[in-house]
Amino acid sequence: MKNNPGFNTLAIHAGAQPDPTTGARATPIYQTTSFVFNDADHAASLFGLQAFGNIYTRIMNPTQAVLEERVAALEGGTAALAVASGHAAQLLIFHTIMSPGDNFIAARRLYGGSVNQFGHAFKSFDWHVRWADTADIGSFESQIDDRTKAIFIESLANPGGTFVDIEAISAVARKHGLPLIVDNTMATPYLIRPIEHGADIVVHSLTKFMGGHGNSMGGVLVDGGTFDWSKSGKYPMLSEPRPEYAGMVLHATFGNFAFAIACRVLGLRDFGPAISPFNAFLLLTGIETLPLRMQRHCDNALTVATWLKTHEKVAWVNYAGLETDANNTLQKRYSPKGAGAVFTFGLKDGYEAGKRFVEGLEMFSHLANIGDTRSLVIHPASTTHRQLTDEQQTAAGAGPEVVRLSVGIEDVADIIADLEQALAKI
Ligand SMILES: Cc1ncc(COP(=O)(O)O)c(C=O)c1O
Repeated sequence: MKNNPGFNTLAIHAGAQPDPTTGARATPIYQTTSFVFNDADHAASLFGLQAFGNIYTRIMNPTQAVLEERVAALEGGTAALAVASGHAAQLLIFHTIMSPGDNFIAARRLYGGSVNQFGHAFKSFDWHVRWADTADIGSFESQIDDRTKAIFIESLANPGGTFVDIEAISAVARKHGLPLIVDNTMATPYLIRPIEHGADIVVHSLTKFMGGHGNSMGGVLVDGGTFDWSKSGKYPMLSEPRPEYAGMVLHATFGNFAFAIACRVLGLRDFGPAISPFNAFLLLTGIETLPLRMQRHCDNALTVATWLKTHEKVAWVNYAGLETDANNTLQKRYSPKGAGAVFTFGLKDGYEAGKRFVEGLEMFSHLANIGDTRSLVIHPASTTHRQLTDEQQTAAGAGPEVVRLSVGIEDVADIIADLEQALAKI
């Protein structure tokens, strides 16, 4: 590859070369639990982190390694760690940063599963989230205290499809010496590369657009190599000697990829959410076509949103790609190639109409996922958000009339035809 290859080239080639033993051109699935050592000294140096190499698939595997190198290259980071799911990646990030009693600031507008993980599950570790509003940058800064360890946002927020001013939030993080963690699942590096806008760590659910085919779970964290983990003394896992590695100090030893190493050799090793080699292979295959798929997703979504906006049974459409949308300025600044493929719209006739509409669709699949090649739909009020009161549903952007689409890459005329016949039934 020439120096500085382009994004399309990296999506296909980064991290991969023909298999040195067999010549296989596609990355093989190294379906093995363990790897044979050359001799006892080699084994000792691998266990002591004096040499890089494969020991056991819970910690690292060659198929997983290609996936990691590829995502790190696409995001412009120094290293990455692939794990079993997006949620597992988030757990390992916070495990590396937080101590009991610490807090972090997170945007309120997040994927609902992250709201649960941060607001409920993390309490058992005595880690505390403080919610802030991305439309009011001051709400991030005003909640920082000396136990705050990080700021967490989504670059393009799920479910509303809202763009966030990453640089403004990064400025707050920098001012207070905190790492900015950005979930880039909905945008993917094809649309936005958060490290270029001041993120220090990027995290993905690979389950969505990155893998892109709705067939495998996976997650990844990317080390931006930008944060000084030793300066404040607030990140002891990186800046203090580790007893399990003969007193090694990870930041001093591994420099600008120490964060990814710490997540692997302390988090993944001890909690164990390893990605299977088969899933790593499927996700890698998906990533090869990421640029083509993502552009088609965005183009189809814009056509669909524009069409829905003029439909007599539709009350409103929330899609940042529409010139009239309040979020259009941020979209043009951060994501000029498109506004993503997930957005919500409201039906004039409310709850029953929402249910009837979803049931009436024939090509769209009614399910709780996004980012598949196929077009997907959900009516949050009768499914994911049904336990909430009407007021809570409305506050979460999941009122009775709201429908969420994840627009696929089928022919856009067929997507619109399906929506049209379902709207006619309500
Ligand atoms: C934006 C976002 N982040 C994280 C996750 C969690 O990822 P996973 O389901 O792979 O654990 C999801 C899942 O829907 C998501 O949409």
